[in-house]
Amino acid sequence: MSRYRWWSTPAALFLLGCGGPFPQSTLHPHSDFARATDVLFTGIFWWAAAVFVVVEALLLVALVRFRHREGRPAPKPTHGHTLMEIAWTLAPAAILVFVAVPTVRTIFATAGEAPADALKVDVIGHQWWWEFRYQELGLVTANELHVPLGRAVQLSITSADVIHSFWIPPLGGKRDAIPGHVTRIAFRPDRVGEYTGQCAEFCGASHANMRLRVVVDSDSAFGRWATVQLAGPAAPASGTAAERGKAVFARSACIGCHTIRGVSPGVIGPNLTHVGSRTTIASGLFPNDSAHLARWIADAPSLKPGSLMTRMQPPLTDADIAALVAYLQSLQ
Ligand code: CUA
Repeated sequence: MSRYRWWSTPAALFLLGCGGPFPQSTLHPHSDFARATDVLFTGIFWWAAAVFVVVEALLLVALVRFRHREGRPAPKPTHGHTLMEIAWTLAPAAILVFVAVPTVRTIFATAGEAPADALKVDVIGHQWWWEFRYQELGLVTANELHVPLGRAVQLSITSADVIHSFWIPPLGGKRDAIPGHVTRIAFRPDRVGEYTGQCAEFCGASHANMRLRVVVDSDSAFGRWATVQLAGPAAPASGTAAERGKAVFARSACIGCHTIRGVSPGVIGPNLTHVGSRTTIASGLFPNDSAHLARWIADAPSLKPGSLMTRMQPPLTDADIAALVAYLQSLQ
């Protein structure tokens, strides 16, 4: 057996960090906002790298040149060298100016002011999911935010309970979601695709499970999505499992918390009018498929600690759950 080298574990951990992919990296910006912060980061990184090199080089020179040698007198310390003192005051001050000016400029540039034609969306953080309200379109959805490519988007962010933080690393953020207060982000996405994000402020038991998705659609795909979302849910065909599921929904606790347009008006949980069209459930935690939906309906807190959606009392039968799943999946 080969000998264990002390450095192999740290080396392996270091190399693991180089693996990919990194869907939530700020280093692959895909909006003007994200690009502005990325440029800032890169600039400051190189300033820091230059300072590191200069300081370490001087340290090495001092170590080598002034190290102790037998019979050599102690080096003479320097006191009150005006030129040196001016130099080591001015140099860091100049570097700080080079860091501060672009930083302050970026802070103002990304303060959330958007052009008048921006798509405006209200974002409301809840324990533990995200609500999205498109004022001008008059539609409400949850956890998956659709935006069109190339158009400015302005998010007005607040919270219904505790402080959260809205963050989609490749597009922009973070912004705190504070109850009774509105913060703003504006950005213009520059690539079609799906981006994952995350609540970035500790907000309770399922903070880590408070994820979100942003789907940047082409203009026409966004239009199609909005048209579908604006339509009411399709009534299930008679005699189907979905129709039985609708009846289960109407007589269960579901209606107390969830809105399905034309069916129930609940406002505590996510709007389910078109839940079948979403790719994930439980705030981006699980794929939106029959198995996960069934487990979620039967016992949400076991999948998401602290979930406000408690275990159904009395418990639903397996047949009821299967019917409910069919109904929810029919809400495309
Ligand atoms: Cu919401 Cu952390």
